[in-house]
Amino acid sequence: MDRIESIEDLRTCLSNSKAFRARQKRPFITVSYAQSVDGSIASKNRLPIQLSGPESAVLTHQIRAANDTILIGVGTLLADDPRLTVRLAEGRNPQPIVLDTHLRTPVSARLVTQSDLSPWIIKSQDNHSDQMKALKNAGATPLPCATSRDGKIDLHALMAILNEKQVNSIMVEGGAKVITSFVNAELIDQFIITVSPRLVGGLPVIDSNGLDLNSNLKLGHVSYQRLGNDLILWSRPDWN
Ligand SMILES: NC(=O)c1ccc[n+]([C@@H]2O[C@H](COP(=O)([O-])OP(=O)(O)OC[C@H]3O[C@@H](n4cnc5c(N)ncnc54)[C@H](OP(=O)(O)O)[C@@H]3O)[C@@H](O)[C@H]2O)c1
Repeated sequence: MDRIESIEDLRTCLSNSKAFRARQKRPFITVSYAQSVDGSIASKNRLPIQLSGPESAVLTHQIRAANDTILIGVGTLLADDPRLTVRLAEGRNPQPIVLDTHLRTPVSARLVTQSDLSPWIIKSQDNHSDQMKALKNAGATPLPCATSRDGKIDLHALMAILNEKQVNSIMVEGGAKVITSFVNAELIDQFIITVSPRLVGGLPVIDSNGLDLNSNLKLGHVSYQRLGNDLILWSRPDWN
């Protein structure tokens, strides 16, 4: 499918994601987040702010329900303590995945204690036996993965693990560092960005310290949708 410009298109595309994974040896990756007009995804001190209006919040839950898995960084887990469940739409909860090199996820996190699925906590291959035991006892599933030169989880190695686990699709929900890493790794097939009509002056969606200097990613196949007061941008990255 050339252009994805609605939730129905996304569902159609993801209904073929098994074939996509067989070809690409990785899941189909959708990056979806809400930002203010000035590109902030949270307040300056990383406190969560409600950016999506009610209609686009429903879309976010529909996107969650359409995907096999939902991925965040441990920064988002520590800042927001999210549940990542589908509550505003029909459908099942996606499998939660947290990038957490040093196993900083607290055993009391709502994702661990309140999830019907045991969250996969992606950690380095270092020995974290005490934290691993505590997290396993609390209901989480720590999974060791290779790290890259910056000491963070190597996203290509993670994709190989997810391919083996037959994960066909991922929704990457943030935060800034994680989205920036997916851009740097060129591991994005679809963007769905909610733009909320407000100026926040907060945490920029792209972590400028972490963005490769050569990056100047153009967004192609662009469609715009109005939902309530928000603008939804549907687009595919143009890696060339
Ligand atoms: N508006 C929205 O749609 C939205 C959505 C989600 C989050 N947010 C906001 O985003 C903020 C959090 O963003 P953030 O940038 O501070 O944290 P983040 O991107 O959620 O998490 C970053 C952390 O994940 C770990 N990590 C492991 N492997 C990684 C990799 N390959 N690439 C990047 N990170 C990796 C690192 O910690 P270790 O080194 O300890 O592993 C890193 O510091 C919160 O304020 C939250 O409210 C907004």
